Amino acid sequence: MSSDAASIRNARPEDAPLLAAAERAIARVPGRLASRPDEIDDDAVRRTIVDLEARGRGIYLVAEREGTIAGHAFLEALSLAVTSHVVRLTIAVHEGHQGQGVGRALMHELLRWARSNPRVEKVELQVRSSNDRAIALYRSLGFVEEGRKTRRLKIGPDAYLDDIYMALWVGP
Ligand SMILES: CC(C)(COP(=O)(O)OP(=O)(O)OC[C@H]1O[C@@H](n2cnc3c(N)ncnc32)[C@H](O)[C@@H]1OP(=O)(O)O)[C@@H](O)C(=O)NCCC(=O)NCCS
Repeated sequence: MSSDAASIRNARPEDAPLLAAAERAIARVPGRLASRPDEIDDDAVRRTIVDLEARGRGIYLVAEREGTIAGHAFLEALSLAVTSHVVRLTIAVHEGHQGQGVGRALMHELLRWARSNPRVEKVELQVRSSNDRAIALYRSLGFVEEGRKTRRLKIGPDAYLDDIYMALWVGP
């Protein structure tokens, strides 16, 4: 799978340390990812890659530019039977590669997979209210805001962000 911005492939377990390190770098900027750098663990990333591949509960992709991994994204089905038609989105374009079409290329492939998978009917995500770029990307793809939890993230003394809940219906 290839676009002008990046070529997209399935993640492999051995990608995990690089993906975790990239998430830690992004997480140093408050208001992007919810996790703090010390809450991102190589083994947890590896387990997610293996689990999604082995159990068919979703898809985990990486984007490469000139042979370098530039971003990653995955969709993971919610665990209960009644919510198993819903997948949750996570996306991270790595520092130095943002704003160059990599996020859009990853989203395009994830949504293509979601739309072609009869078990998937709804894609959900959470985004920080400060993350204008991410919100603009999701809106442009048809995601709508379903709700907002105010002051859900505390990023410093007396400094809070809202969490916005967005979703895209891809089912019939
Ligand atoms: C948010 C993120 C996924 C977007 O991916 P990206 O590769 O940087 O963005 P793209 O270059 O694909 O641009 C996608 C859209 O974002 C919007 N955008 C890009 N730069 C922007 C900016 N500086 N301000 C506002 N919107 C912007 C545009 O609508 C753009 O659409 P276009 O294709 O019409 O130009 C990426 O920046 C990222 O992973 N950031 C750090 C981690 C993060 O925030 N993850 C999301 C948590 S919910």
